[in-house]
Amino acid sequence: MKQISHLDDIPSTPGKFKMDKSPYNRLRWHSSLAKLTFWSFVFLALIFIFFFRSPSSSTPQALSDPSRRYLQNYSWGGAAWEKRVRSSARIRSRNGMSVLVTGAAGFVGTHVSAALKRRGDGVLGLDNFNDYYDPSLKRARQALLERAGVFIVEGDINDEALLKKLFEVVAFTHVMHLAAQAGVRYAMENPSSYVHSNIAGLVSLLEVCKSANPQPAIVWASSSSVYGLNTKVPFSEKDRTDQPASLYAATKKAGEEIAHTYNHIYGLSLTGLRFFTVYGPWGRPDMAYFFFTRDILKGKTISIFEAANHGTVARDFTYIDDIVRGCLAALDTAEKSTGSGGKKKGPAQLRVYNLGNTSPVPVSDLVSILERLLKVKAKRNILRLPRNGDVQYTHANISLAQRELGYKPTTDLQSGLKKFVRWYLRFYADGKKSGV
Ligand SMILES: NC(=O)c1ccc[n+]([C@@H]2O[C@H](COP(=O)([O-])OP(=O)(O)OC[C@H]3O[C@@H](n4cnc5c(N)ncnc54)[C@H](O)[C@@H]3O)[C@@H](O)[C@H]2O)c1
Repeated sequence: MKQISHLDDIPSTPGKFKMDKSPYNRLRWHSSLAKLTFWSFVFLALIFIFFFRSPSSSTPQALSDPSRRYLQNYSWGGAAWEKRVRSSARIRSRNGMSVLVTGAAGFVGTHVSAALKRRGDGVLGLDNFNDYYDPSLKRARQALLERAGVFIVEGDINDEALLKKLFEVVAFTHVMHLAAQAGVRYAMENPSSYVHSNIAGLVSLLEVCKSANPQPAIVWASSSSVYGLNTKVPFSEKDRTDQPASLYAATKKAGEEIAHTYNHIYGLSLTGLRFFTVYGPWGRPDMAYFFFTRDILKGKTISIFEAANHGTVARDFTYIDDIVRGCLAALDTAEKSTGSGGKKKGPAQLRVYNLGNTSPVPVSDLVSILERLLKVKAKRNILRLPRNGDVQYTHANISLAQRELGYKPTTDLQSGLKKFVRWYLRFYADGKKSGV
């Protein structure tokens, strides 16, 4: 009642106060208030409907759904945007393919996109430019690809409306799916980012691929981490993969099972590539070879892990150019998907390959190589390997990839790190980030 009497004091005509408080006037005010409430409600409802139907799908409703709360408000669409998408994905060589590369602003994605473009394939990138590591490095990679004629659409693989739109604009023959939440240790800090990108995002992508007409063939990045706590080396594709040591590994393993399902039900052609510790120019700042380089140059102490009883921790470091050749070979040998209109028409190809280097190197040797290349002695602190996701040893058996993809790594760690260090010193010259 207090509120109404306050409202009663508001003049209906500017400059005029209503002194009359007859029951009739009171009724008129009640009906005005009802009208005001009604129109406010209609206005709010219209705003809600507008956002709910917006193609960017960053609606209050979408954001309140926990699986989608990482979706940001990316803007996409429009004639000029579609023109850029089409032009980037246009095939410029005979028998070329048009490839949607997810995670194109990432380390591997940038190299694969550039290599495909160089040989005349159509390439369209997709990346959400998240800040898991310095996004300015992702922007620098984007600028590099831009100069090569590759457009990276800014968006999330969970945004099905965006993915559908991309398939409407371009009939992609292939998808190279590299977008993921990488890194084993960060999973203890932000577990849901792994579920969002590596599980929900994969399903969202496969849902759109299975409904696309024609369905694309998909090559995607699994990981050597699926071998988890296995002690039998070298790791072969036939070995068990049911003892992951990190949530990251568990999401990649889940991805392999999800791939099996979409191949089985919808006839999607799917190839999973288990990469072994990839390194090289434009690499990832969260990986040891990268932050060791940074810290050695800064004179900071670096932590080197050893296993129980001074056991060696070693990695099968694989140079980026070898990985790129493996990715392209997987795309080139991928058979067509067999489904159409979301229905399977026959059995489709389902493959998994190790892409490694087949020569594990102890992490302490990696540091010695870096010391020589940087001409700086590292301050080493030897620590016991914590139980936070890392495994003691990785070693790839690559005979299957050799046989079926013609995969043959050619770069040893010394030569590969030399190229990385050269890039690093130029890129971070004078503390500034320059394009290289
Ligand atoms: N580099 C390695 O040593 C290694 C080893 C094994 C497996 N892999 C796998 O290879 C792939 C590429 O790895 P990388 O080293 O280039 O990593 P990266 O982090 O540099 O690249 C991944 C890219 O995906 C993007 N991304 C992440 N989530 C996304 C989402 N939901 N929607 C859209 N974009 C998203 C990121 O912004 C990033 O640019 C990943 O799947 C990774 O798990 C890498």
